[in-house]
Amino acid sequence: MLTVDDLSQLRATLDGWRRQGLRIAFVPTMGNLHAGHHSLVRLARERADRVVVSVFVNPTQFGPNEDYGRYPRTPEADAAGLATAGADLMWLPSVETMYPHGAEATVKVSVPQVTEGLEGAHRPGHFDGVATVVARLFNQVGPDVAVFGRKDYQQLAVIRYLVRDLAFPLEIVAGDTLREADGLAMSSRNQYLSSEERPRAAEIHRCLQWMRQALQAGHPREAVEAEAAQRLETAGFVVDYAAIRRPDLGLPETGPADGGRVALIAARLGRTRLIDNLEFGA
Ligand code: PAJ
Repeated sequence: MLTVDDLSQLRATLDGWRRQGLRIAFVPTMGNLHAGHHSLVRLARERADRVVVSVFVNPTQFGPNEDYGRYPRTPEADAAGLATAGADLMWLPSVETMYPHGAEATVKVSVPQVTEGLEGAHRPGHFDGVATVVARLFNQVGPDVAVFGRKDYQQLAVIRYLVRDLAFPLEIVAGDTLREADGLAMSSRNQYLSSEERPRAAEIHRCLQWMRQALQAGHPREAVEAEAAQRLETAGFVVDYAAIRRPDLGLPETGPADGGRVALIAARLGRTRLIDNLEFGA
């Protein structure tokens, strides 16, 4: 596996692959990679001849009181894991490469509508930062296909909107959420949990399953959302939202609802903010 931190070297390598007619898949990440990320790399492998993975902790998607400074950075372990998972190239841009005018003076990509509720409401500016960095990464890598996880459900919707609206010539593929044995969604942030908090964190997944069951049993959406939040508070979480939405998150352009739903939770346990979701039929 190649490790590249220079943009002209990245472009030269990718141009060479394209000239050979090779199809290129791309998996953007912020590093500290776990089995969930590796599953996206394997999915990318199935869709293309070459797999590029970026590792970049993107400052513009963190709020002023969020964990940018302490976000875990483990480039050596990431490289080893990516080589095993079958990546061909690890792209490691510096902040200066990604934001040549500085992170404050950057050209911004701002996505309307789908960013309004849920994470967008609790993390102002977060999705502008995500859309901004992902648009740059797409321009740097120029992939045929890009793979994102369903774990970040609203982010996936934002990326689909971005690709359609800015006409990026690539396909978006979604990967399922990998979980620990007790149902906790794998996340780089799980390691912030203390040994006392860790087992309690699985309550988020149990609560999502309870929401599905309660809604399918015919209970009204608002009542299910309120009781889910109550359950989480009782288990010691500070809840940002426990919500049930249509899978398109209400985007007008995606047509009539097919009856499916998605339950989404964001909640804090101590200093750790966790998000997860569960899709299900009506
Ligand atoms: P990061 O949190 O590192 O996640 C990178 C990709 O891995 C995302 O598409 C995310 O949805 C996926 N992922 C995370 N946990 C997963 C799990 N348990 N199972 C399967 N996939 C999982 O998301 C970001 O980085 C950034 O916002 C980024 C898109 C790279 C832009 O900076």
